[in-house]
Amino acid sequence: MNNIHRGYSTSNGGKKSGNGTLLFLGLAALGGAGGYYYHTSTQSVKTASPASPKGVDYSQVYKDIAELLEDDDYDDGSYGPVLVRLAWHASGTYDKDTKTGGSNGATMRFAPEAGHGANNGLVVARNLLEKIHEKYPGISYGDLWTLASVVAIQELGGPTIPWRPGRQDAVGAHACTPDGRLPDATKKESHARDIFYRMGFNDQEIVALIGGHALGRCHPDRSGFDGPWQEAPTMFTNEYFKALAERKWIKKELENGGWQYVDKNNTDVMMLPIELDMYNDKEFKKYFDLYAKDEAKFFEDFAKAYKKLIELGVPFKGDEKTYVFPKLD
Ligand code: HEM
Repeated sequence: MNNIHRGYSTSNGGKKSGNGTLLFLGLAALGGAGGYYYHTSTQSVKTASPASPKGVDYSQVYKDIAELLEDDDYDDGSYGPVLVRLAWHASGTYDKDTKTGGSNGATMRFAPEAGHGANNGLVVARNLLEKIHEKYPGISYGDLWTLASVVAIQELGGPTIPWRPGRQDAVGAHACTPDGRLPDATKKESHARDIFYRMGFNDQEIVALIGGHALGRCHPDRSGFDGPWQEAPTMFTNEYFKALAERKWIKKELENGGWQYVDKNNTDVMMLPIELDMYNDKEFKKYFDLYAKDEAKFFEDFAKAYKKLIELGVPFKGDEKTYVFPKLD
């Protein structure tokens, strides 16, 4: 499972996107029909999963997710990248001032959040994980989605990310966050700061986190952009930073009227407009260049920032076990 080295297909991936939304929402609605209650000091909140799920063997869940990652017919051969994007988009809605959003609640199961433009295509990842949830109904969706991203990062060669359970499922759409909390790739570096400062990250953490673009690709039918960031999109490395620092990026007009950067010497690989703006920002650049030179430092900083990201707004009680799952290979 580890170290799959593939090229990437030039054909449009995401063949499985776009279907199953209604079926999925139906299942989610059924899943929410039961309901458990958990108590905080001030309130009693109805949730779809028990507050302290007993008997979930998270190490076994890890292994079962790892088994699902590889699929030669999907994109570049792995579901890992889209699982990382699911957890990041579930977590990245957090607002530190109002303490709303984040992976707690798994509110992307519900319209309107499932329908936010930034979440296009993530139904693929949510549907894939339904198989795991059926086998382990005691795990909350927020825990499942974040754990799946840890599996993907680790099994595709990235750093070990300590993970703990504690997210509780919301039973309805009331906790969905408003549209617009996730970054817009067509904007400037100041927008990246606005979005990530709102979550409570600093410049160094922002740059470490965007290194997640080591994995995966853009899909014309999801974001409108097209292509991976470098030639090995199923291996978690610092190649993304090297590509930004070392290659010549030129503008390419897209058929949908937008544009992106492509590598002058390999126009199949791309960068988003905001990424070159960020790279050219003096404060951001020192971290981009650091991570291009030092992969170990990138791994260390990414692991810390990513753990923080997937724990934003989670009501941990403090006695949860933190798991450090060994990589399977
Ligand atoms: C300024 C911040 C960011 C912007 C503007 C941005 C934008 C995008 C866009 C436009 C896509 C393409 C979606 C598609 O067409 O399928 C994408 C994919 C992806 N993003 Fe980001 N992103 C940002 C930060 C992050 C962070 C912090 C992570 C994780 C730590 C991340 C992980 C990913 C992954 C893994 C994919 C590939 C998904 C796939 O292959 O299906 N991104 N991002």
